[in-house]
Amino acid sequence: MSGTFTKSMARNVFYGGTVFFILLFLALTFDSMATLPKRDNRQNLTEEVVAGKKLWEVNNCIGCHTLLGEGAYFAPELGNVYVRRGPEFIKAWIKSQPTGAPGRRQMPQFNFSDEELDQMVAFLKYMSEINTNDWPPNVEG
Ligand code: HEC
Repeated sequence: MSGTFTKSMARNVFYGGTVFFILLFLALTFDSMATLPKRDNRQNLTEEVVAGKKLWEVNNCIGCHTLLGEGAYFAPELGNVYVRRGPEFIKAWIKSQPTGAPGRRQMPQFNFSDEELDQMVAFLKYMSEINTNDWPPNVEG
């Protein structure tokens, strides 16, 4: 007996391990789902934010930018741009594109109205207030 690892022991390890990790997976899933409402900033989802998100989609900002790490790597991360730059900079920036600065990547002109600029800023503000455990790190893009 001692020193032999029998078939039935192997089976018990397999079933026991499987059940243990399924339960652990379920527990962590429930924990994540319970934590989301406290972290996803849903209480601040105003109509203005939703309109800004639509502008974000329709104009394919994600085709160049990342948002909380998702998207394209052509242009800076924008999940924390509201904190880094503030609303007035963001509006002035969007209005003054393309910069034409030699050697720098360019961003198109979107011809947003003042209302649309406010919506865009509201969306970026909302994004910056999601509790992501400080992702992305607060570094210059
Ligand atoms: C074709 C690519 C492209 C698209 C599409 C694009 N951008 Fe950009 N954007 C850039 C580039 C490139 C920069 C950085 C340019 C530089 O630093 O000179 C930039 C910079 C920015 C900045 C300043 C970032 C910072 O860290 O200071 C903001 C804000 C911004 N974009 C918002 C937007 C929004 C909102 C949209 C969609 C409506 C959008 N961009 C769509 C290319 C793009």
